[in-house]
Amino acid sequence: MDLVTWSDEYSVNIREIDSQHKKLVKLITLLQKETDEKNQHKAVNEILEELIKYTVYHFSFEESLFAQYSYPETRTHIQAHTELIEQLKTFLNEFHSSGNVLPIDLINFLQKWLIDHIVGEDKKYSSYLNSKGVN
Ligand SMILES: [Fe+2]
Ligand SMILES: [Fe+2]
Repeated sequence: MDLVTWSDEYSVNIREIDSQHKKLVKLITLLQKETDEKNQHKAVNEILEELIKYTVYHFSFEESLFAQYSYPETRTHIQAHTELIEQLKTFLNEFHSSGNVLPIDLINFLQKWLIDHIVGEDKKYSSYLNSKGVN
C-alpha cells in the first residue's frame, strides 16, 4: 500500500496549520507501522486515541481562526469537521466491534479522510486567511 507522505501540494500556506497537518499524517503513518505487526492491538488503540484527540484539537484551532478573522465559509467548514468526526467514530466503532474491518482498510480510510479534507476544504481558506496576514 502506498503510504501517505507529506507533500507541498497539501500546504495551506499557514505554518502552524501545516505543522498540525503533518502531525496528523505522521500519526497515520505510525499506525501503519504498528499494524504491520501481528499483535498490534494495544499500540493501535493508543495511536487512534491520540489521533482523535489531536484531530479535535486541530479542528478547533482552525475554527478559532475562522471566528477571529470572520471567514465567510465558516459554517460549511464546521459542518465538514462535524461530519468527519462522526465518520471517524463510526468507522472506529466498526473497527473495534467487528472482525470485518482490516487494519489496512482503516489506514486507507484515514488517509483518504484526512487528505481529501485538506485538499478539498482546508485549502479553500488559504488565500482568505493569508490576505488577513495569517501565514
Ligand atoms: Fe485541517
Ligand atoms: Fe478543516
